[in-house]
Amino acid sequence: MHLKTYFRSMQNPIIAPSILSADFANLQRDVEMINSSNADWFHVDIMDGVFVPNISFGFPVIKAIKKHASKPLDVHLMIVQPERFIKEFKEAGADILSVHYEACTHLHRTIYAIKENGMKAGVAINPHTPVSLLKDIIKDIDLVCMMSVNPGFGGQKFIENTYSKCAELKNMIIAQNSSCQIEIDGGVNETTAPKLLNVGADVLVAGNYVFASKNPLETIASLKILSAHTVNA
Ligand code: DX5
Ligand code: ZN
Repeated sequence: MHLKTYFRSMQNPIIAPSILSADFANLQRDVEMINSSNADWFHVDIMDGVFVPNISFGFPVIKAIKKHASKPLDVHLMIVQPERFIKEFKEAGADILSVHYEACTHLHRTIYAIKENGMKAGVAINPHTPVSLLKDIIKDIDLVCMMSVNPGFGGQKFIENTYSKCAELKNMIIAQNSSCQIEIDGGVNETTAPKLLNVGADVLVAGNYVFASKNPLETIASLKILSAHTVNA
């Protein structure tokens, strides 16, 4: 069990550029840039103006991304009562669907509804939500999307207690022999990314760092070549 986790941690991270920072007037161009890059997934942020103080976009835009994307869509729902729209997100093109712990009264039921609709299921947690609350769901999910900023906006400052939360979550995953992956969302850059890999992160979301850079392809490649130097540091 420990060997398996060790091996997984030493692999290069999964890189998921966040479409929230793309140029929406040139969406196809930016989707094709990610297609041709070393990135693995498209991170797609859905905001409803209720769960978070911002509104992003909905089904027509997800469908438009899906039409051109050659990599899986990792859809992060920042909406209240996400169980209302699971089938619709599948039909729009989601491959991985993450719901917020704080937005679900019946999280277990919602996770199984996502799986029954043919998607991988993730749970996102806000910066103030303790990792320990995932103890009884960690074996049922494919992904934890750990927010390292308060959800709602791209380009925010990384919250430092994410490192210890990530290490704690990794220990929980190992202890329960779960195959769940840890995704870090918010403020990922050249400084935070290597430290996150050292505490067990598997997936790095990057919005502003990729799209505001001079050469997004090179920026993605520079994240992809990183690997953990120590395990569970
Ligand atoms: C924030 C979103 C993030 C955001 C990350 O609510 O969930 O996915 O796009 O943006 P950066 O990488 O710019 O912090
Ligand atoms: Zn996100």
